[in-house]
Amino acid sequence: MALRQLLSPLLFPAATLSTSTASSSIRLRTSPLFLQQLIQPLLYTPIAIPAAIRIGVPSILAEIWESILRAVPKKKTSHRKKRQRFLAGKGLKDVTALNKCSACGNVKKAHVLCPFCVNDIRKLWNRGSHNNSQSGFQSKQYLTTHTIDHAHPTDIYALATTPTQILSASGSSSILVHSTNDPEFPLSQTLEKAHKLGVHHLTTSRNGKVAASVGFGGELKIWSEEDGKWSQSREIVDSNKPGEIWAIALSADGQYLAATSSDGRINVWDNLADGAKIREFETKGSFGMSIDISVDGRFTASGHENGGIYIFNNDTGRLFHSLPGLVRSVRAVAFSPGGKLLAAAGESKVIALYDVSSGEQVAILTGHGAWIFSLDWSDTGEYLLSGAFDGKAKVWSIDHRTCVATHAETEKTLWSVNWLPKTGRNEGFATGGSNRSISFYREATGG
Ligand SMILES: *[C@@H]1O[C@H](CO)[C@@H](O)[C@H](O)[C@H]1NC(C)=O
Ligand SMILES: *[C@@H]1O[C@H](CO)[C@@H](O)[C@H](O)[C@H]1NC(C)=O
Ligand SMILES: *[C@@H]1O[C@H](CO)[C@@H](O)[C@H](O)[C@H]1NC(C)=O
Repeated sequence: MALRQLLSPLLFPAATLSTSTASSSIRLRTSPLFLQQLIQPLLYTPIAIPAAIRIGVPSILAEIWESILRAVPKKKTSHRKKRQRFLAGKGLKDVTALNKCSACGNVKKAHVLCPFCVNDIRKLWNRGSHNNSQSGFQSKQYLTTHTIDHAHPTDIYALATTPTQILSASGSSSILVHSTNDPEFPLSQTLEKAHKLGVHHLTTSRNGKVAASVGFGGELKIWSEEDGKWSQSREIVDSNKPGEIWAIALSADGQYLAATSSDGRINVWDNLADGAKIREFETKGSFGMSIDISVDGRFTASGHENGGIYIFNNDTGRLFHSLPGLVRSVRAVAFSPGGKLLAAAGESKVIALYDVSSGEQVAILTGHGAWIFSLDWSDTGEYLLSGAFDGKAKVWSIDHRTCVATHAETEKTLWSVNWLPKTGRNEGFATGGSNRSISFYREATGG
């Protein structure tokens, strides 16, 4: 039986979904157990996929859930274990190498920064953060301005913005559109039944006129905006079996759409030419987990499960750079607005910056303690926003190659983080993830 047929009667009654958490016990009583097993893994915990395999989910989809969404890093050593190690004398080391800090004269461990000085510097930084006229390094402060709790009935996998709206997509079938012009972020449109099995990727063009979405059923849809309302303009039916198309990106003007596939191919379609495929790039066959198109539309970058990162040139139709990739899966790639840098991140927990023209790695930003799922450049290219498995969102200063703000309001995975259109002089961003809420942040005006 096809997965879609199996799921559709249960997935679509909106009521079943929207009350799912509160009434899971009720649903257990009213629907067949095997369907519970199937739906639960798909919608709530991406872990229990074996249950779904048993009843014949297309194996490629199962594999995707296994490898992509089962984002459970290795267990940390428990406190009990740690204590036992310490009790057994294994964790303790004598601190022998001590010296005096040359700056403040306090005794400190050799080869580490002096804790006294670090504290002083930290205090200075904190003072500096309230002074916007100060030049040089400073941390930034963002305040939560609004949260749409339970925006979606399941994990929010993707957020995408336009100059006036934020679109969101989740494991349920609808895409939601909220207005960003109003501080309350009111719902302005619901694209119902956009993808029956839910949506795993959603993106918008920079000019805000075109959106694209990929469903768990394998469908790839293009949407267009007119007077603030979205409607489906096209469905790209190429070879899309479930899982065939994974990550997607649109060019700034919405003309080009690029997508990765599970077998490592990168396809590019031209929206103006009736969605004709204009490019098909080959890689070494590792799952394409992330993709981006440069603002000028000339370059397409892809990040892969095996850590590989490639940049393709649209003009020549060829591979431009095979970058020194990351050690582990690359779950996000993003070109800077000026097109000079490419940022890449994922299971290595670091963000690598590459020079696009030379293909050289120019920086590694460290600080996240968990897998990174999402990256977004600010409009000016000064800041990079990242979101991670442990619920932390970070803002990085590109000039200073350092983290200037960390937000940890949730411990649930952040699948997507996005800068918001600038209103006034303050920059803000939105986050969405496993806790099903969309949260909005604005930079605090210091002074
Ligand atoms: C902010 O920084 C500038 C330049 O360093 C300094 O002149 C000014 O006094 C500072 N203002 C406050 C409120 O600390
Ligand atoms: C990309 O390549 C196609 C096919 O050669 C061409 O028509 C198009 O103009 C190119 N786009 C850009 C932005 O260079
Ligand atoms: C979800 O996480 C956001 C931060 O990303 C937080 O502001 C919000 O309160 C959380 N909502 C719930 C219901 O836990």
